[in-house]
Amino acid sequence: MKRQFIVAILFFSALLLSGPASFSQSGKGDIPVVPDSSGIHIFSVNTCPGEDCSTQMNVSFAADKDITECYVYLVSSRKRRSVGGYRLIPSEATLCMVYDSIYSKKANGENFYEDAVFHKFSCSFTNLKPDTRYDYWIVAAYKDEYEIQRYVSSKTYTFTTAGRKEWSACIISDFHSYPPLPKRLVSAMNMVETVNTYAKEHSKRGFDWVLHLGDVCAWGGSWSFWKEMYSQDAFRNYMWAGLNGNHDNMSRKYQLTNNYFRYATANPLNGYEGEEGVCYHFTYGNVLFVMLNSESMRDSTGLAKAQEWARGVLKSSNARFKVVCEHYQWFFGENGKTSQMRRWKDLFEECGVDLALGANNHIYVRSQNLPTLYVQTPSSDNERGVEMKELEYNQDIIAKRWTEGGRTIGAMLMEVDRNSISLTLLDRNGTVQDFVVIKK
Ligand SMILES: [Fe+2]
Repeated sequence: MKRQFIVAILFFSALLLSGPASFSQSGKGDIPVVPDSSGIHIFSVNTCPGEDCSTQMNVSFAADKDITECYVYLVSSRKRRSVGGYRLIPSEATLCMVYDSIYSKKANGENFYEDAVFHKFSCSFTNLKPDTRYDYWIVAAYKDEYEIQRYVSSKTYTFTTAGRKEWSACIISDFHSYPPLPKRLVSAMNMVETVNTYAKEHSKRGFDWVLHLGDVCAWGGSWSFWKEMYSQDAFRNYMWAGLNGNHDNMSRKYQLTNNYFRYATANPLNGYEGEEGVCYHFTYGNVLFVMLNSESMRDSTGLAKAQEWARGVLKSSNARFKVVCEHYQWFFGENGKTSQMRRWKDLFEECGVDLALGANNHIYVRSQNLPTLYVQTPSSDNERGVEMKELEYNQDIIAKRWTEGGRTIGAMLMEVDRNSISLTLLDRNGTVQDFVVIKK
């Protein structure tokens, strides 16, 4: 596999680009004017975490085969001043073919094979200023049918670097985005907005970023599903840190690979062998997040590899709080039976993990403080929810379960300050269904 190309970008200087002549740039700090903003040729732009989100952010995007070069422009949102940029050429990208000719389904229900060969770019913004909001956009050059050079621009994307003592994130999972059933994605995106509204009412400020715990696509092999999902405003407005879920890891014909998730994102390449850009770790403020791939931990060999890596990352971090995330559930929410918790409990205790986040089961479950707090998200698509039955197991350690049955929509707000992490479970109406605090 070809390695993703990473470009470090210099900041706090005037615009570094020697851009095409048609960019108007009259002086230091000006924002270039883009002649044509039709938004074609560049797609699936999304912001991923850098290893240290106070100074680094990554950008993932795809460009059509016919582009000749791309320009990434970065400005500070408040001052609208250019703080950096970069010119990228196709040979610096990966020619991505992992989704090409994959059997799939169109929004109108028609069966088809994905036509998806494109340049996959991954950029790293480095030396960013902490606690700062940035905007960026991408301009691509291509030649039209008369061989005339044309330019198109992406929309503007926004992220906020870590650095505030108090910050918050939306946590969501399991919306199985599926264009033939578009209401799934609508339900999840509305839920993200519901969490944001609650955050504003609660702390006078919206959340800073989104943590997703996997199964955002029904079939990760369907590039058109990712493309449709990334066109949603929530992906323009926030950095999203995510996990590879079992659905993201599969195609319609059940071809399995973590490449579907890898090439749709630009996560830090600090994971272990075979999992680079899929398993990764990053810090946002005072919290270390260790992101695992459940699909590679199904057997004992895979689990041992993941645990060796996770232990090393956790033990070498001096972050105030340590959070580990994997897609699979800690408990079977239906009856409370132990699931992945059994495999991780000792390691979490040994490494001082404060919070373990899971998903997949579609039933929200929260444990007592053991001392690690185990929480798994409900689903959020109003379609694939699961009913719960009587709590038969772990009555002494499960503190709360929640589901709305088949039609479930829920997500969480995570609020962090110097000494605590608070988690609030909200339903689609913004009503609090559960609340818990982890204190140091
Ligand atoms: Fe799921």
